[in-house]
Amino acid sequence: MSDAYSRISRWLDARIGLALGPSRGYLLDARLQPLLLHYQLPDLVALAEHLERPGQAALKDAVVDAMATHETSWFRDVYPFELLSSTLLPARAANGGALRLWSAACANGQEAWSLAITLAGFRDLRPAITQAADEILASDIALPTLRRAETGIYATPGDLRGLDAPRLARWFQAQDETYTVLPSLRARVRFTEANVLEENAGAGFFDVIFFRNVLVYMNEATQVLALRRLAARLLPGGYLVLGAAERLPARSTGLRPLVIRDRVVYQAATGG
Ligand SMILES: C[S@@+](CC[C@H](N)C(=O)[O-])C[C@H]1O[C@@H](n2cnc3c(N)ncnc32)[C@H](O)[C@@H]1O
Repeated sequence: MSDAYSRISRWLDARIGLALGPSRGYLLDARLQPLLLHYQLPDLVALAEHLERPGQAALKDAVVDAMATHETSWFRDVYPFELLSSTLLPARAANGGALRLWSAACANGQEAWSLAITLAGFRDLRPAITQAADEILASDIALPTLRRAETGIYATPGDLRGLDAPRLARWFQAQDETYTVLPSLRARVRFTEANVLEENAGAGFFDVIFFRNVLVYMNEATQVLALRRLAARLLPGGYLVLGAAERLPARSTGLRPLVIRDRVVYQAATGG
């Protein structure tokens, strides 16, 4: 890998825990060329120099946004949302309190809005006095992507993947094939920029955290750090849901697997 590739890779690893690996240098070329043009930088060496200096927040946000993979869909993998309404939410609602859910890497928002729709369906069937205080936190490290998520506006077939007609009709305002999340759904979700590797990412504590399809881009040491941070944000007995292909690394993370309906979710090892 050339010097510029190594410097930018090291910066990305330190900033968001992205492990590119030596053979993925082509990704840097492909994803960063438009930024070089936009910021009028001659090459990746010049970009590396900007990244290593203090300041330049907008450029740094743009690099993170360009290099992170934001692939997502509505109700992705289906079963996590079924498990949520059949088992996790009933267990967490049993004490009658408000519920706090966190989509900890929400990308363009589909995961967070899918959580909001699932929680609304659950509360419709089992209303509770405390439900006005329910909250869904949606966060991501990539600021431009998070801002798109927050608009709640989806138009392309790719953006709408996984959304069925009844849910489109129930939760969106449609205009010229553009779908905007209804204010009643919007009121349930709060968006904030957060890096899960940082100690105080995600204000407060949660009944359920979704952190899916992010570990796969991290090396093991970073996976352990991210999972320890998330374990520390679970309420006692709260659940962490990972991506379908993701497992705990061998080193201790403060989490233990729990099999529910043939699916694995995680609880803080010291949790209730
Ligand atoms: C592949 S998407 C997954 C989106 C969604 N969770 C899903 O499973 O469909 C990965 C997201 O993780 C975000 N991400 C990467 N590193 C992160 C970090 N350290 N903290 C928070 N978000 C991060 C990226 O910006 C990206 O939007």
